[in-house]
Amino acid sequence: MSDHKGTAVVTGASAGIGKTYADRLAGRGYDLLLVARRGDRLTAVAEELRARHGIAVETLVADLSEGADLDRVAAVLAGDARITLLVNNAGTATLGAMAETESAALDAMNELNVTALARLTLAVLPRFKAQDQGTIVNIGSILGFHFLPVSSIYSATKGYVLNFTRGLQQELAGTHIRVQLVAPAATATDLWEISGVPLSALNPNSIMSVEDCVDAALAGLDLGEAITLPSVEDAAPLLAAYDAARIALLGASQTGKPASRYRIS
Ligand SMILES: NC(=O)c1ccc[n+]([C@@H]2O[C@H](COP(=O)([O-])OP(=O)(O)OC[C@H]3O[C@@H](n4cnc5c(N)ncnc54)[C@H](OP(=O)(O)O)[C@@H]3O)[C@@H](O)[C@H]2O)c1
Repeated sequence: MSDHKGTAVVTGASAGIGKTYADRLAGRGYDLLLVARRGDRLTAVAEELRARHGIAVETLVADLSEGADLDRVAAVLAGDARITLLVNNAGTATLGAMAETESAALDAMNELNVTALARLTLAVLPRFKAQDQGTIVNIGSILGFHFLPVSSIYSATKGYVLNFTRGLQQELAGTHIRVQLVAPAATATDLWEISGVPLSALNPNSIMSVEDCVDAALAGLDLGEAITLPSVEDAAPLLAAYDAARIALLGASQTGKPASRYRIS
């Protein structure tokens, strides 16, 4: 493999945002290691990108919500010193009332959106730290900052991505390891059909193309953004207000005694 940029790992590269990341990163000169369940699609993506960009592409067929497959992928990532960039993109959503949610859908969201993202981060991080370089891109969602009556589980998983990523950014401050949170709003991918809410149910003006989403996310990475909200025009003051409220709430909690409204002692 050519090694000037190293190898980018993209999970969920058989469709949607991950497939577009693979294309754009190939265009930037990365070799690729692509992960998803549908091997036929991964093979087709790999052949196309090899032909178009002249880069090396490997594929790993794996169900990242299955423990044995996740262990196998984590071992590959931990052992491959060519890896310089990890895009934790694979994710799934089932939207609807909690009481009507199948337990398998609950498990799939938790295992893929949360456990796999953290485990694969853990797989690359020791080497990134030893080399004091590397980039991790975690795909969260605007629903990591917000919740809807139909999104309690999905929002919770993306809230994990938000807090995990921001904590990691603080932990790695002062190193040369980059960690970016990307939090898209509605993007035109298969995710919506899979979720049970078709794209046609959304306001068409609120839906971004997958190409625009990924191009904005990569532009945000180039700009050094820690949090990229691809569709938000004036993100900095909104994030500053969010952080100010968060920090004020934390500060207000540091009293060591019940609040007076509870009338305890
Ligand atoms: N679309 C949106 O509006 C939107 C908004 C905010 C955030 N996001 C986030 O963006 C990320 C990508 O989603 P997308 O919109 O591109 O969805 P998508 O088109 O459904 O693509 C999901 C990708 O993840 C892979 N995947 C799903 N389950 C997997 C599993 N168990 N193991 C391994 N790979 C698996 C799929 O491939 P296989 O089926 O071949 O495994 C596919 O490549 C997700 O984290 C999602 O939460 C999406």
